[in-house]
Amino acid sequence: MSLLSSVERAPRDPILGLTEAFKADDRPGKVNLGVGVYMDADGTVPLLECVKTAQDRLAANPAPYGYLPIDGLAAYDDAVVDLVFGDTVPRDHVAVVQGLGGTGSLKVAGDLLRRLQPEAKVLISDPSWENHQALFSRAGFEVERYPYYDAEAHGVDVDAMVTALGEAPAGTVVVLHACCHNPTGYDLTPDEWARVEQVVRERGLVPLLDMAYQGFATDLASDGAAVRRFAASGPVFVTTSFSKTFSLYGERVGALSVVCADADEAARVLSQLKIVVRTTYSNPPTNGATLVATVLGDAELRSQWEGELAGMRDRIKEMRVALRSGLEQARPGIVAEHITTQNGMFSYSGLGKEQMVRLREEFALYGLDSGRLAIPALNPGNLDRVVDALAKVWP
Ligand code: LMR
Repeated sequence: MSLLSSVERAPRDPILGLTEAFKADDRPGKVNLGVGVYMDADGTVPLLECVKTAQDRLAANPAPYGYLPIDGLAAYDDAVVDLVFGDTVPRDHVAVVQGLGGTGSLKVAGDLLRRLQPEAKVLISDPSWENHQALFSRAGFEVERYPYYDAEAHGVDVDAMVTALGEAPAGTVVVLHACCHNPTGYDLTPDEWARVEQVVRERGLVPLLDMAYQGFATDLASDGAAVRRFAASGPVFVTTSFSKTFSLYGERVGALSVVCADADEAARVLSQLKIVVRTTYSNPPTNGATLVATVLGDAELRSQWEGELAGMRDRIKEMRVALRSGLEQARPGIVAEHITTQNGMFSYSGLGKEQMVRLREEFALYGLDSGRLAIPALNPGNLDRVVDALAKVWP
């Protein structure tokens, strides 16, 4: 038997693999409610005006594409720290590297943490973004879950969550969703964050906050509050993604920031992060980070970005309201209120695998088997069709 003849076919990725199946479907009226990608009312991924202006500026002054430093574009790294932490921590207390989107940044975090704490476990929420489990397992960790979603209450079981964290051994890495929890859409309140932060610090756990949707729940400041709370009280790992917030999915723009005790510690941590980066992808790409740094570094473009981000957020909220009221009209008595109380791109609908498969097979509507629906895929042109189909399978 040759080396490759025994290779097993792996299952398709639960999120991006669904997009592959969606693309291969030639039925008219199909809708991809799977992947978390923001689309405009006409069903296209937007090119933000602020990004277009930045592109035009860069095109007017073409620059060669030399290697970036291992940790990335300095102006970009500074802009990330400013956006994520404001004045909560001194700049030189933060070790930051430009990452390949949120996923690439999590991967760098996972690899460093595994070297620092080889015996530690990683705790992720139950449920969590599918890639958290896969990514931290691949980094060599044993991954377990802390209670999070309360199906009956349509919310978070914060008591169970705090109890579980209170029993975790010191050094356990706890992955938290900074805002717009993926997949449920249920976030902690500020008081609940205070409880979680307290138990994390009391137990000596290692918090890792994944922030891929800053600005999609309420605004940049409120959505960043949990990260700043942790940054003010001790070490924290924070991953940032600009895929959604800048609509720069294919550019893979993200970052990993590690808040340290002082500048010396940050310099030592950065030196280790650079080894992880150098041995993984050597150094990051130039274009996306330059676009983000250009926008964040220019007061006018930054305020235009905040307006465009608010526009995306508002359209998602409108679609939530329209979906809920459509369902309530289609089937009086239906329980759909939670669609409008969840945050961010996703609605954890409460539908099970059987119903999701039926949606796919009978109606060409592609949501995740977990029941997660990507709300930005909805628009006035497909809403009625989606409502009709959902009303037929809704419990
Ligand atoms: C999602 O959850 O759909 C997005 O974060 C895209 C991805 O990479 O999975």
